[in-house]
Amino acid sequence: MTQLADRWGVNPAYFWMWDKWPERPVEIDDNGVVHVYGHAECVQVYGDPKTYSSNVEALLLGEADEGESLSDGALSAADPPKHTKMRKIVSRAFTPKMVADLEPQITKITHELLDAAEGKDGLELVEDLAYPMPVIVIADMLGVPHSDRNLFKRWVDQIVTAAGEVTVETAGLQRDDADVAAAMGQVPELMDYLRQHVVERRRKPQDDLLTKLVEAEIEGEHLSESAIVNFARELLVAGHLTTSATIGNMLLCLDAHPQQMARLRADPGLAPGVVEETLRFLSPLAGSVRATVADTELAGVKVPARSLVRLWLGAANRDERQFAQPHVFDPDRDPNPQLGFGRGIHFCIGAPLARLEGRVGVNVLLERFPKLRTDPASRPEFMDLEDVLGVSKLPMLTT
Ligand code: HEM
Repeated sequence: MTQLADRWGVNPAYFWMWDKWPERPVEIDDNGVVHVYGHAECVQVYGDPKTYSSNVEALLLGEADEGESLSDGALSAADPPKHTKMRKIVSRAFTPKMVADLEPQITKITHELLDAAEGKDGLELVEDLAYPMPVIVIADMLGVPHSDRNLFKRWVDQIVTAAGEVTVETAGLQRDDADVAAAMGQVPELMDYLRQHVVERRRKPQDDLLTKLVEAEIEGEHLSESAIVNFARELLVAGHLTTSATIGNMLLCLDAHPQQMARLRADPGLAPGVVEETLRFLSPLAGSVRATVADTELAGVKVPARSLVRLWLGAANRDERQFAQPHVFDPDRDPNPQLGFGRGIHFCIGAPLARLEGRVGVNVLLERFPKLRTDPASRPEFMDLEDVLGVSKLPMLTT
């Protein structure tokens, strides 16, 4: 049988897509980079932030640590105690209830995007839905006016283009490069735009996430203007392509497993299982990084201090020590301890939103297009990013 990975044209770097497993769950390459492939080993690293720091640049490039100051810096790159404090404040604003309340709005956005694509010959799933939907949702959630949606999307396009030029290993070496800054979401116009909106929300509160971030406090401490701007851009960087990739990957997985597609059509209530299994089987965020604070040992491998550690979530999600029949797409897995959203203190804060967008996206698509299927004449194309495994073009037939 042809492997799905061959049929889809997946980058061979994602070796687990060919049902292969490395000889050991942890390996160190010639450059001293530690690659973690095992599920248990990834969980161990995620569970030990004292040894495995998220402040990778500060550790590996010897940059000044910002200490506990909440004035700047990203949530994903912070270690405790700063991370604990920031995450608590941010969680007061970005709550599961706030996300759940977005369902009607996400359904509306999905329909609007598909309405706009009507009359075309088939769907270009990424361009028509998977790429724009998460940007519009984040923009709406923050409180960006509809009239500025295109402006916002242009800046996000800039971030995405730059992200394709930058790798984890080179990011630190080219710190003055505008691409590196842009890949991190630091597009000056976007930052200025967000800053203006934060200032405005202080004067005139509204019913949106920016206002909630301005108002959120812990023991009298608020987030500074820069911290809010940084968090807003972090939501975009962390929540856009990952969610786009998940929607595209879900459709690919269902198309390759027509029985599962038919079951979901018959019972839209099965969508959460399909989302979880897609995150495991075709993990959109293939990797996550840490740096060691001290000498340590992982799965019997000696790891020196100040090593770059790459957690390969896609591989860990195919670890047969954790998952029965790991190379089978089975949305009924229960439990499904997939690591697509990470684990521990940095567990994806956007997971409830991503799950909701995935569920709504796939159900609306199946409801509107009873014959939706991939086009055998055109293969999907994948994003040219080292850490994100997701389609950048997915032509689909609808009639
Ligand atoms: C299916 C889509 C998504 C996937 C696969 C994903 C994956 C992840 C993973 C693996 C982490 C942990 C990284 C680490 O520990 O190194 C993470 C953290 C994070 N994610 Fe997501 N994410 C998704 C969607 C979103 C969305 C929609 C948002 C927000 C709008 C978001 C915002 C964040 C933030 C802010 C963090 C940092 C949390 C912290 O450090 O405490 N993500 N995500």
